[in-house]
Amino acid sequence: MTRLDVLALSGSLRRGSLNTALLREAERLVPHLRFDHYDGLGALPHFNEDQEHPAPLAVTDLRRRVRDADAVLIATPEYNASIPGALKNGLDWLSRPAGDDGPALALKPVAVVGASPGPFGTVRAQLALRQVLHKMNAHVVQQPEFLLFQAHQQFGEDGRLPDGSPAQRLLSDVLDALARLAAPGARRHETAAAVR
Ligand SMILES: Cc1cc2nc3c(=O)[nH]c(=O)nc-3n(C[C@H](O)[C@H](O)[C@H](O)COP(=O)(O)O)c2cc1C
Repeated sequence: MTRLDVLALSGSLRRGSLNTALLREAERLVPHLRFDHYDGLGALPHFNEDQEHPAPLAVTDLRRRVRDADAVLIATPEYNASIPGALKNGLDWLSRPAGDDGPALALKPVAVVGASPGPFGTVRAQLALRQVLHKMNAHVVQQPEFLLFQAHQQFGEDGRLPDGSPAQRLLSDVLDALARLAAPGARRHETAAAVR
């Protein structure tokens, strides 16, 4: 199986994050995917058009890591029925072209997952995130969807999803779908560049 490089991006900044745990579980599940865990969202400056040229170093690093990856896996918390501000800020930086290059996430295969201790499992945050990624012209895995509700009860003390659990199987299916979308030669439909 082709080895693919995946940039794992957690929308949570906190140490005990359920969403970051989800990304660690994803890495353990699929050995043929090489994970680069990005944890710099909290260090990005607030997006400001006046500070785009030259781009801050932290932004250049994020863009490079997105470009170097074959695919991106985003785990988003739900804050007030949407995505956390830090994640939106990172996406706003990524939506902007850098030099002659287009936006780093444009045409990039992306999968979205999310975990919440609540009963809805980040469904509203994921809808909001998909809308942003659509505008950015990313290639987003549509099916299966992965929503982990009551997530604090689903992880074991080892920080893992139980082997063979429905959640673990579904996460594995999402990663398979992402790998298929990112595989060399995969047919991805290119849409016209977004109008700005
Ligand atoms: C400001 C704030 C708003 C929140 N709003 C929601 C919400 O709308 N829906 C939800 O399911 N959980 C909500 N939560 C709870 C988060 O789902 C919970 O804190 C979760 O653990 C955050 O993800 P993390 O564990 O990856 O940090 C909110 C938490 C915070 C701090």
